[in-house]
Amino acid sequence: MRLKGRVAVVTGGSSGIGRAIALAVAEEGADVAINFLNFQRNEASAQAVAQAIERKGGTAETFQADVSDPAQVLQMRDAILQRFERVDILVNNAGINRDKSFINMDYETWKAVLSVDLDGVFYCTKAFLEGMTARGYGRIINISSIVGQIGNFGQANYAAAKAGLLGLTKAVAREVAGKGITVNAVAPGFIETEMVTAIPEDVQERFRVQIPLQRFGKPEEVAKAVVFLASEDTSYITGHVLNVNGGMYM
Ligand code: NAI
Repeated sequence: MRLKGRVAVVTGGSSGIGRAIALAVAEEGADVAINFLNFQRNEASAQAVAQAIERKGGTAETFQADVSDPAQVLQMRDAILQRFERVDILVNNAGINRDKSFINMDYETWKAVLSVDLDGVFYCTKAFLEGMTARGYGRIINISSIVGQIGNFGQANYAAAKAGLLGLTKAVAREVAGKGITVNAVAPGFIETEMVTAIPEDVQERFRVQIPLQRFGKPEEVAKAVVFLASEDTSYITGHVLNVNGGMYM
């Protein structure tokens, strides 16, 4: 129960890694605000995550917002504060990819990914940082990617956003270090979620052979790193990038 009494927000918490993070922080005692994007596509799965938490005696509620829309983020913030009164832990997990070789990449495809993966983190961090600063405590965890560290064919937009996130993490970490707030990033390698299972099998295999641990990771393995960074065990760790990649990049 390392997060007992804490309130956590997980963006994009209805599926994949976000779902695993929501379940894991709840398992450690945090109350969880689960953000989802779309009423038609994601609300039911977000509610299923909340119900799974409540069945185990935890507390969770779902909140819709497109993180790339600042007005929706502020509305979500107000709704979360009304329900939970404060936010101690923010996990910026929501993310998309729209892959195209750079030569074929149009500005719309570039912008779509930057809007969610980088601007979305800007809006959410802005929305919750003020309360953390006022209370003198906070844990912000940004989900970056190995692709932001080493690049990847067809992912110039995604790599730029995820590398940008590392710079953002370190800059904000310096700015808020005196306020009891830590800001860290987790950089997953290839993790078994829809984002990866959508890749053709032969391409998956090409990546798999590059991983010293010889397999893709599981969402729960990323979630454990997030719980660690969200806990008080990491009071002296800030601006750090924690790789969860099976050794693919070291
Ligand atoms: P996923 O597609 O299952 O999860 C992404 C979640 O973000 C979805 O629930 C989606 O609805 C939500 N989302 C997308 N746009 C949103 C928006 N505008 N506002 C609010 N929510 C939005 O994929 P996965 O794999 O769980 O990805 C989670 C995070 O982990 C992403 O940031 C991704 O870039 C990152 N990541 C994933 C890796 C993998 O191998 N699966 C590797 C490295 C990083």
